[in-house]
Amino acid sequence: MTLPRCVKPELLDQLPADDPRAQRSRRDLRRVNLWMRQAGIMAELLLAHGRDSKPRTLLELGAGDGTFMLRVARKVAHALPGVKVMLLDRQDLVNRETREAFAALSWTVEPVVADVFSFFAGPASRADVVTANLFLHHFEHPGLGQLLGHVAQAASLFVACEPRRDRFALAGSHMLWAIGCNDVSRHDAVVSVHAGFNGRELSDAWPEHPAWMLHEQRTGLFTHAFAARRNGAGGAR
Ligand SMILES: C[S@@+](CC[C@H](N)C(=O)[O-])C[C@H]1O[C@@H](n2cnc3c(N)ncnc32)[C@H](O)[C@@H]1O
Repeated sequence: MTLPRCVKPELLDQLPADDPRAQRSRRDLRRVNLWMRQAGIMAELLLAHGRDSKPRTLLELGAGDGTFMLRVARKVAHALPGVKVMLLDRQDLVNRETREAFAALSWTVEPVVADVFSFFAGPASRADVVTANLFLHHFEHPGLGQLLGHVAQAASLFVACEPRRDRFALAGSHMLWAIGCNDVSRHDAVVSVHAGFNGRELSDAWPEHPAWMLHEQRTGLFTHAFAARRNGAGGAR
């Protein structure tokens, strides 16, 4: 039986960046991403769909402290050299250590502190590739469709890794105490699965246009992956 999609506020989004519970939850998030194998899945999708087009600019939506994209960069920088990455988040979270780690890969980092919709309303919102990890599930219709519409205007490739909305992932989200996650992370994990995706829900929310090839699938134990590539932009054959 499928779970109906239900989007509710997450605690991390309501806490100030310097709140100790938020700081702890962002550290938990790194462990959750590891358990979900999110960076590996994102890297595989970027290489499969983006390697041939040699992207020069990448925009990560809801990038948090940037350490997720850093893990991805470490996996793909050999094939995608010299990328300029914009890390967009409502909160100012990217520290010097993370910037230096990107620089060591010869990737340039530009943190952008903005709400995603304000950013897309501005002039500098283009990038070769847009990515999102554990971000799209924050939005319900019609906002989700509007957001994907902005992404389709901005880029030639979009890759997203989101929570899969099914009973197995829901059971997993109730187990985060076992890997030492705090109350914020445990709450938000369950909320995130209820707000997650399955089937062709992201394809259906993507703007209808023949220029785009869409790939949407369950991946790994807990992940729902989506890639949209503009025809002629290079990628998996
Ligand atoms: C679940 S966290 C994921 C962070 C990061 N992608 C990762 O995997 O570690 C979602 C992030 O989206 C950001 N966020 C939520 N709503 C946003 C919005 N409307 N505009 C920009 N960022 C937003 C939050 O501040 C948070 O850092």
